[in-house]
Amino acid sequence: MDRRIDMTTYHEHIPVLLKESVDYLVTDPDGIYIDTTLGGGGHSKEILSRLSDKGRLFGVDQDSEAHEAAAKYIGDDDRFTPVRGNFGYLKTLIDPEYNGKITGILFDLGVSTHQIKEAERGFSFQHDGPLDMRMSNLTGVSAYQVVNDYTYEKLRDVIFHYGEERGSKEIAKAIIENRPVESTGELRAIIEGVVYGQHTVKSLARVFQGIRIEVNRELSVLRSSLEDALDLLEDEGRIVAISYHSLEDRIVKNFFKSGNFEGKIEKDFYGNPLTSIQPVEKNIIRPSEEEIKANPAARSAKMRIAEKMSGGNN
Ligand SMILES: C[S@@+](CC[C@H](N)C(=O)[O-])C[C@H]1O[C@@H](n2cnc3c(N)ncnc32)[C@H](O)[C@@H]1O
Repeated sequence: MDRRIDMTTYHEHIPVLLKESVDYLVTDPDGIYIDTTLGGGGHSKEILSRLSDKGRLFGVDQDSEAHEAAAKYIGDDDRFTPVRGNFGYLKTLIDPEYNGKITGILFDLGVSTHQIKEAERGFSFQHDGPLDMRMSNLTGVSAYQVVNDYTYEKLRDVIFHYGEERGSKEIAKAIIENRPVESTGELRAIIEGVVYGQHTVKSLARVFQGIRIEVNRELSVLRSSLEDALDLLEDEGRIVAISYHSLEDRIVKNFFKSGNFEGKIEKDFYGNPLTSIQPVEKNIIRPSEEEIKANPAARSAKMRIAEKMSGGNN
């Protein structure tokens, strides 16, 4: 996966909610920021355009191909520091001297257009490729192991809980009957043999999403990174999170509301809320019709913004 790429082989990723997200994120041009999902560098470049000479930006991504593309797109900029790693360990990726001093942290979750379109990465049912789906070669388990080694119960639960696919039992059974499954094309054919009619494409997308979430442990990684992000922020620092499916959005929503993943605000003996985070906007921000028309990949995006409360109790 550490193939060398150039911009002719990098599939362009159009940044989603670009202006809106950076408007909320950059509250101080001299501040220190983290883009936890650097990708092709679209959001990072916009953030840098809003910073003064004193401002700083860390660009985190676990994918080496994203770093290569972003380096070319951003060019030489002393204010920018690329960081290769998984944002689930955000605090360990950033020098401890910045703990409690970060002004804003951006999450633009999910996969990039490049990752989806590159058949070799195995993310898409639209391109035949190996069953991989790892966002990084730092990750252990690949889609091949999930599809070929998991028990029926485990595979069914991945498809049901992470893919939110109602036909999980039939699909898991069919996969097991057809093992070994060698490619995304074979997996697609198995799913198409079980789910008929107009819902086939949606089911394909859901099963592939479920396996991808399992391979990259996306939900547990998101939870730990939000907790780390809150610790890293200075008072009144912001987290801006763009998510692309309801499982991610629920995690973000609950955390922004309460500082925990149940979404229940704990109170002390006197009834004072025990939380150090609050939403900046009550409502979700979605891409405009115009943006979705120009970039259909933006259609499921939901953006939420929260800030660390000064003198918070958590
Ligand atoms: C939607 S893309 C970001 C696109 C970027 N905002 C841009 O404008 O080009 C998501 C990126 O986040 C990265 N990513 C996803 N989960 C990650 C994680 N747990 N740790 C680090 N990077 C991650 C992916 O590798 C991918 O490059």
